Amino acid sequence: MSIAITNIGSLVTNDQSLGSGILGEISNASLIIENHKIAWVGLTSDVPDTDQQIDVAGKAVIPGFVDSHAHLLFAGERSAEFKARMKSEKYSAGGIKSTVAATREATNDDLEQNMLRLVSEMRSSGITTFEAKSGYGLTTADETRALEIAAKHTPETTFLGAHVVPSEYAGKEDDYVDLVIGEMLDSVLPHAKWIDVFCDQGAFDVDQSRQILQAGKDKGLLPRIHANQLTQGGGVQLAVELDCASADHCSHLSDSDIEALAGSNTVATLVPGAEFSTRANYPNAARLFDAGVNVALATDCNPGSSYTTSMPFCIAIAIREMGLTPEQALWSATMGGARALRRSDIGSLSAGQSADLVVLNAPSYLHLGYRPGVDLVSRVFKSGKSIYQEQK
Ligand code: NIG
Ligand code: FE
Repeated sequence: MSIAITNIGSLVTNDQSLGSGILGEISNASLIIENHKIAWVGLTSDVPDTDQQIDVAGKAVIPGFVDSHAHLLFAGERSAEFKARMKSEKYSAGGIKSTVAATREATNDDLEQNMLRLVSEMRSSGITTFEAKSGYGLTTADETRALEIAAKHTPETTFLGAHVVPSEYAGKEDDYVDLVIGEMLDSVLPHAKWIDVFCDQGAFDVDQSRQILQAGKDKGLLPRIHANQLTQGGGVQLAVELDCASADHCSHLSDSDIEALAGSNTVATLVPGAEFSTRANYPNAARLFDAGVNVALATDCNPGSSYTTSMPFCIAIAIREMGLTPEQALWSATMGGARALRRSDIGSLSAGQSADLVVLNAPSYLHLGYRPGVDLVSRVFKSGKSIYQEQK
């Protein structure tokens, strides 16, 4: 069965050989979906015959957003912390422990239903691929069940047993690291693709983080890292040393951090929702782009520092507060995310790519920043299947 999406006012392909600018943009375009993939892209005037046609009447079509950083397995909420931060309180890693307590109390069904609620929000914001981390269980059984649930809903599952040291290991941090790289790692292995560490003040130092990521790599997991969120520590340099797919947050970067990222295969994943919700300064993303670093934008959805599932919100902030141009912001939320997950089948719309796309209620992707806070997602397809349609 072939489906043509026709009369696209502006199509973002992210393939510079197909259209103009870094987004490979084509006006008056159509595309054809067949066998879950993009089969053809071109001008509406040239579109071949297909079994079915969907005329989008001049709307814009963009690749589905790729959210490479999300914490979706948790229970409870922390709006009181948000309120305190909006006044004067500083964000600290310690708040994670209250979500750990609530998560340990929750049933498997509670955790899965909460995740599915967030996944449904993600879909309606245009996200077609998402990563999901553990990290609020912090016992072997609780980390394992979180990843078991996550793996039912996404192939991009990340073991974050090293989120913080749980209270019962206070003063025995090295024993907790031994647990994470020993019994816990072995138990989660069948359900995880990635391993992550929160390398920062109040969480894990560089040596502990190296030990944990290396142990995961030795067992076949791929490394990624929470780096330089709260301080200009050594997380980004460690990411490059270990060839992490991504260094996430990157809120405090030195010139040598940027240089290291530019010469590496590690993506800098920026999470504007975290700076927004923790009332922290936004990093200068233009500096990263100018240096040739691959940048991704992600929601970092979690109940503490960034309780949003909206990629359009992240794009609007990245444009307004982080110095990205609208095209750089969209590229980062699509192709950048795909690179942060080391995926070459998503993030762009050219023949052979997965048919993951978003129809916007707007003539151009520019409206994602131009109309902040407005829901512009009309329809979402993943692997050629409609997964969301706005209610009229
Ligand atoms: O990515 N920084 C570490 N982890 C999360 C926050 C977790 C929390 O506060 O619950 C983050 O911002
Ligand atoms: Fe995070």
